[in-house]
Amino acid sequence: MTTRLYVALFLAAFACPGFAQVPEGYGCMEGNLPNEVRQDCHPEPGASEQICRARGCVWCGPDPSADGQNFPHCFYRNPFYVAPGPSCDVGYVQPALRVDCTDGTEPMGEMGCRYRNCTWCPDVPGSMYPPCFTSAAVDDTGYAMVGEPVQTPGGISFTITKSLISPQFENQFTTLNFEATFQSDYRLRIKISPSDTQRFEVPIQIDPPAGSNANLLYDVTFTRSPFSFRVVRKSSGAVLFDTSAGKFQFADQFITMSWRLPTENVYGLGENEQRSFKHDFAERLKYTLYASDQAPYFTSSLYGTHPVYTVIENGGNTHMVAIINSNAQEFHLLPGPSMKYITIGGLIDMYFFLGPTPDQTVQQFTEAVGRSQMPAYWSLGFQLCRWGYDNITNMKAAVDRTEFYQIPHDVQYGDIDIMRDELDFTYSEVNFPGLPAYIEELKGKGIKFITILDPAISTIDADYEPYTLGTEMDVWIKRQDGTPMTGHVWPYGATAPCHFPDYAKNSTREWWIYLVDKFHDLLAYDGLWIDMNEPANFDNGDIQGCANNTWNYPPYQPKTDANKADMHFKTLCGDHVDSVSIHYNTHSLYGWFESEPTLIGARSGTGKRSLVLSRSTFIGSQRWASHWLGDNWSHWSNLHFSIIGVMQFNLWGMPYVGPDTCGFIGNSNAAMCQRWGELGAFYPFSRNHNVRDTIDQDPGAWGAQVAASTKAALEVRYTLLPYLYTLFYHHVSSGTAVFRPLWYNHQDDSRTYPIDRQFMWGAGLLISPVLTEATTWVTAYFPNSRHFSYYTGDEIPVRGNTLNMTAPLDFIHVHVVGGNVLPTQEPARNTEAARLNPLGVIVALDDGGSAVGDLFYDDGDSIDTHLTGAYFHAVYTMSSGTLTSTVVHDGYPEMGTKTLNTIRLMGLTTPATSVTVNGVSHTDFENLESGEVLVRNLNLVANSAFTVVFA
Ligand code: GLC
Repeated sequence: MTTRLYVALFLAAFACPGFAQVPEGYGCMEGNLPNEVRQDCHPEPGASEQICRARGCVWCGPDPSADGQNFPHCFYRNPFYVAPGPSCDVGYVQPALRVDCTDGTEPMGEMGCRYRNCTWCPDVPGSMYPPCFTSAAVDDTGYAMVGEPVQTPGGISFTITKSLISPQFENQFTTLNFEATFQSDYRLRIKISPSDTQRFEVPIQIDPPAGSNANLLYDVTFTRSPFSFRVVRKSSGAVLFDTSAGKFQFADQFITMSWRLPTENVYGLGENEQRSFKHDFAERLKYTLYASDQAPYFTSSLYGTHPVYTVIENGGNTHMVAIINSNAQEFHLLPGPSMKYITIGGLIDMYFFLGPTPDQTVQQFTEAVGRSQMPAYWSLGFQLCRWGYDNITNMKAAVDRTEFYQIPHDVQYGDIDIMRDELDFTYSEVNFPGLPAYIEELKGKGIKFITILDPAISTIDADYEPYTLGTEMDVWIKRQDGTPMTGHVWPYGATAPCHFPDYAKNSTREWWIYLVDKFHDLLAYDGLWIDMNEPANFDNGDIQGCANNTWNYPPYQPKTDANKADMHFKTLCGDHVDSVSIHYNTHSLYGWFESEPTLIGARSGTGKRSLVLSRSTFIGSQRWASHWLGDNWSHWSNLHFSIIGVMQFNLWGMPYVGPDTCGFIGNSNAAMCQRWGELGAFYPFSRNHNVRDTIDQDPGAWGAQVAASTKAALEVRYTLLPYLYTLFYHHVSSGTAVFRPLWYNHQDDSRTYPIDRQFMWGAGLLISPVLTEATTWVTAYFPNSRHFSYYTGDEIPVRGNTLNMTAPLDFIHVHVVGGNVLPTQEPARNTEAARLNPLGVIVALDDGGSAVGDLFYDDGDSIDTHLTGAYFHAVYTMSSGTLTSTVVHDGYPEMGTKTLNTIRLMGLTTPATSVTVNGVSHTDFENLESGEVLVRNLNLVANSAFTVVFA
């Protein structure tokens, strides 16, 4: 009857020649409805807003960026439609506690809002608070606790149920099991999963904590009906996580939970291009996580999946939260502050790490998910790459330019253009004749070689072993009908049909390890770069397309792509099958599965530590691989974004990270490359790389000026490599971050919280680069410690404040933080040569005249020396004028052949009048104008214990 009545009204309006006089209809903001309930008000062609509104209907669109156009833009605002969501009278929630019900971008009126079972209270016009919001308190579709919590061996569990089904999604689970496991004092696990259905669980390894759970740092509390839970820090009472903020739903392909956060000091969630390190909640950004081969475009998903964030609470305590879920997922950051989480599969499985210091949170997180391999010493040197050398002459020219300007150079790369027809495990004898010999020549100069592998294996050559053996060993990802799925990537200029390895499978791992190992006989690589492993596919899903089912076209689709395309856009179909599950579940784990067998193969091939650089990563990938930040842009903004990206991966336990210096996409220019080259010297992974068909951008390509400033910055890096290497040792042994935001070391100083244009190496070095064009000054913040110029030893006159400093084009500001001893070594053209040079220390005193630091050193290339004992470790302490070196471990005999020659002592209040080394007066020292005392020609045996007294 409703419809009939409305149709009658509509026909009357339409038939009447004076229809322009009928009351005006509605604009999109007032009357928007979800597409699925729109009834077409202008079925014939030629709709316009004017005609539509004259018909009394709602006009929304056409929006050129909207998905498809197959829903009515002119539709009924059906007055008889009863929206299920509560009205404002019933559901009022004070603005600051609201959780936005929209995706933060779509305009929504009352109808659309209430249809979504949300509350509409437009009572704060123009404010940042959402008029359309969810709240568990008014949500009659929420769950309720059944009975009392039951004690389990490590925690508690109970059941939650719901009786009313919300209208939004199908296959909702009405009975769920809630488990809280108190894994240690600092680690809490919360798992929510259906009681009677086995769901996909991410197969990553979570290691047990070392500590006990006798004195929990947290409490977990509940509300019964509607069910919600809170995690509270006992010491401060801070509520770290409170799900009463919003609606909790658990359907087969749609799980959502919202929680209130204790502060807006929230960092992490990725991988995306993030434009500020500290999230901006007023902007209501929505980050999508789903491994994607696309250039960074703000909140769209990128290569890796790290649903992990860190919060600095009021007062400076920090905690981390990790969600172990690999399905396509979204985080909506909302005022309040709160977060709405949506995932379209798996379950809720989350870990809380209570810190309370930033360093402890990262240590605790990495204790659970794994830490990185110790990087090879050479891999901390400068690396040169490009796609599109196209022939060996151009590659040699880039190497020669670098040598001409005497720029440090440790690694040369070959991209896919060195391959024969873009086939893995080959090189082109046509374009790169003599490449194996050239690699040997480079090695003779101390330069290592890294090359690339892509997953897609061409199927067109009957004698191509990766394909024939792969088929024999049955290594491919399959379609539902059991045939190998097929797509296209690079091989034969993207014309060859390719199969994709199922790296989760044992036979595939064996096949890949065999090929990677054997490849070393052809090209003596030192490390491998695994790319396109999201996995990328130039067909959408499969050459056959994807079947019409909910794995390929889920009812709710996170906006994974900047173009709002389907989820299988440029990757596989969701219903493709691997040995673990359907691709829908394992997609974002593809690079994770590929990483371990690649490292095993590379170690077998090289017999050394080697290196795997993976574009796609997941929580814990660092156990085997490192990462570069992907196909960034040659834009000035990307200098800033790169710092954010590297800091994030450091919090996620993967410190060996860096972007393509000078930018990948587009032509770079000398001014940008000069500044980026200086900044690039301070990424843990320092590589210049660019895309094909662009101009050369290696530091030697721009002429003397850029070459000189890159060389100067890299020489600072090389001087400090023993310090950087030691920081990695601390990561490997205890999980700490290497490249840090300032707050990591200064959690009590809230002025550090938003800083993302400066960064630190460990606790001892502060780097303040220039990130903008034509700028010769920098405003840097100096926390409340002593800071000394790395270059001159001059002490900075401010503390807990900013300082404007001039920064000529060829200069990057680097400061040593008082209280630290930094081991150094004289630089050279590469680490092989530098490792033969004398060592030294920089001692920067704190207010009490003390400093502490250490040195880890080994042969730089053997596997797991920190476990085998084949390393040297000394601790340096300075107090009351005496510097003491204590040998903690002396398992690297070659240390005895090296010398420690210099001490740069910064921060003495009066000039030194004497220096006594192991009881003997040493006269070769100088009090510099800055106050630094420079001691030369010490000639101490590097593995000896020593004392140096300054008087
Ligand atoms: C991808 C990689 C890029 C590489 C190119 C060719 O775009 O991200 O680094 O140069 O493929 O292999």
